[in-house]
Amino acid sequence: MATPGGQRVRQRLVLVVFPVQSHITSMLQLATILHSKGFSITIVHPLLNSPNSSNHPEFTFVPISDNMAETKLVSPSYFISVLNKNCVRPFEECMDQMLQTEEQHDRITCIIYDALTYFAQDVADSFKLAGINVRTSNAASMLAYAVVRRPDDQGYIFFPDCMPEETSVIQSLNLKDIIQSMPQKERDVMVEQRAALIALTDSVKKASAIIVNTMDFLEQEIVMKTQEHFSTTIFTIGPFHKLAPTISSTSILEEDATCISWLNKQVPKSVIYVSFGSVAKMNENELLETAWGLANSEQPFLWVVRPGLVRDVDWLDLLPKGFAERIGERGCIVKWAPQKEVLAHVAVGGFWSHCGWNSTLESICEGIPMLCRPFFGDQLLNVRYVCDVWKVGLELESELDRVKIVRAVRRLMVDTEGEDIRQRAMEFKKKVDHCLRESGSSLNGLNELAEKILSV
Ligand code: UDX
Repeated sequence: MATPGGQRVRQRLVLVVFPVQSHITSMLQLATILHSKGFSITIVHPLLNSPNSSNHPEFTFVPISDNMAETKLVSPSYFISVLNKNCVRPFEECMDQMLQTEEQHDRITCIIYDALTYFAQDVADSFKLAGINVRTSNAASMLAYAVVRRPDDQGYIFFPDCMPEETSVIQSLNLKDIIQSMPQKERDVMVEQRAALIALTDSVKKASAIIVNTMDFLEQEIVMKTQEHFSTTIFTIGPFHKLAPTISSTSILEEDATCISWLNKQVPKSVIYVSFGSVAKMNENELLETAWGLANSEQPFLWVVRPGLVRDVDWLDLLPKGFAERIGERGCIVKWAPQKEVLAHVAVGGFWSHCGWNSTLESICEGIPMLCRPFFGDQLLNVRYVCDVWKVGLELESELDRVKIVRAVRRLMVDTEGEDIRQRAMEFKKKVDHCLRESGSSLNGLNELAEKILSV
């Protein structure tokens, strides 16, 4: 379509990002996917952890103030709560300004926001724009919040009178006990921040659509169960990182590409890749056990030791004495790796992960079996999927100790006991390829989403 002046008419979508590395990456991938469908894109982002706009000249970037620099990061749910309070006003002002200056051939029709920036739904409502809620983590987490009771104790947040009916997947995911399985400290903060959880879940109900970065064959049953409880249509269009045509780096941390040269020298399927994502923290003892466990496993390993992984310790002081000599060329340690490239490398045969949703999807896409050590939040659900529902990984439970690590790494990578898991992981890779074909479920979902947006 064109204006009377001959200009091509496009719809502009405003995407709101949550300022944590993996969430920023997911939203930029989604932006790239939607841009390839002909939409123009504005990225609104809090000042904290601003994405690198020069990597994406095709998008317009608009920062909003967040006042987070002064905020003490007590817990993830506290951070979410404060960010949502601080950003409402600046986002309203920013939308107001953008709507006043928008051009006729490039009108804003929709605000697409990370589920954790739920303030954006209220702002969309106040400007009478459609709000689309994006789950950058699994679909099951929408049901998991069902187990959190309302502060007035009047039933559950999502389902006022009833829990969703128990299906076999819901039982395997242990949804009812998920909150119980969290560390007490985290449970206390969740209870304290229930108002934020209620606002988060309310925004899901008010949204015009929900986008989930998942695949039908992974979560179809849960998506159908969730859909029974919502009138909002759920679009499953993952994995974003495979659907995004080509995307320049979205990383805030600098990727150390030297690990790829190291991988090039290793035997196929021999390397265990170890990374706990961008947020998780461990104590010094856990780090030591991990180091010696990897050293004693006799498998080559590539380990991401992110600055900040262990509190208050400088990166170079972290490793135990004698460790470097013990591992020699068998180990490679970096601060941050090009993870997707690493997982796609022929030398990698296993992934010891914290089970963040992106890491989980990236591993499944490359047919890599996982050793799972979840830390918090949705990771506790993802581990149940990987180990009990999909059976493409093993869990490393209770306290970390080097002997257990050696056993688990060898089982995952080489022992015949792990053969089933390794084979199933390869079968999952084929299912991903099906999903991404021309008439596969993810591409169909994407086309339906584009139609939905065009109709608003
Ligand atoms: C957070 C939460 O912890 C997680 O539970 C939730 O599902 C998403 O938000 P994070 O812990 O960073 O994410 O984990 P994950 O979702 O796995 O994302 C990590 C991302 O960083 C992945 O896309 C991965 O490819 C990338 N990464 C990680 C690198 O590029 N290099 C690295 O060295 C490590």
